Amino acid sequence: MSYRRGALIVLEGVDRAGKTTQCMKLVQALQQSGRPAEMIRFPDRTTKIGQLISAYLEKKHNLEDHTVHLLFSANRWELEPMIRQKLEQGISLVVDRYAFSGVAFTSAKPGFSLEWCMSPDVGLPRPDLVLFLELNPAVAAQRGEFGAERYETSEFQKAVMQRFQQLMKDPSLNWQVIDAAKSIEDVHAEIKTHSEEAAEAAQHQPIAELWK
Ligand code: TMP
Repeated sequence: MSYRRGALIVLEGVDRAGKTTQCMKLVQALQQSGRPAEMIRFPDRTTKIGQLISAYLEKKHNLEDHTVHLLFSANRWELEPMIRQKLEQGISLVVDRYAFSGVAFTSAKPGFSLEWCMSPDVGLPRPDLVLFLELNPAVAAQRGEFGAERYETSEFQKAVMQRFQQLMKDPSLNWQVIDAAKSIEDVHAEIKTHSEEAAEAAQHQPIAELWK
């Protein structure tokens, strides 16, 4: 059977690494090169589950740590049928955060193992490429103060970064580390090259399952 499916491309990274800007530029570039592409982001704050998560992040509402972890995962699973459908229709998806943020942020809290944190996301569509926008904390600090949302402290972000490093050791995923301290255009050029390669390779492969 010959597939011509879209690619699932995820951007991860610490806060203020420029993920959202780069996602938008990548969607435009893929479209201009003739590949249908769309952007999605997690958490998707528009759904009912997403609204609970949003209130939690804005510190308007407290949730128990395991509970909020499972809600973040449920927020991905509720979009899973749409993700699968778009990929099968040949649309590439550029995703601003995915299960890796889910695992890195919760496992940075005391008492959470990587294994426990990974389990609810096992079986989601596996990304064809995970771009990690790396930014040293000193450079990140120059890009402005942290906001008021939960998790926006440099101490917590350092713990999150260590968890991302552990996740990047997984050879079942195509991780590419990008130096986000470079100019927006240089970072974009690198991301575009990796993405076009991954999209070319993905179109003849079935959609795989994450961490399976
Ligand atoms: P953002 O909407 O600015 O990207 O922020 C979302 C916040 O939620 C960010 O601090 C990372 C965190 N997060 C989790 O804790 N678990 C998850 O599964 C995801 C997608 C994000």
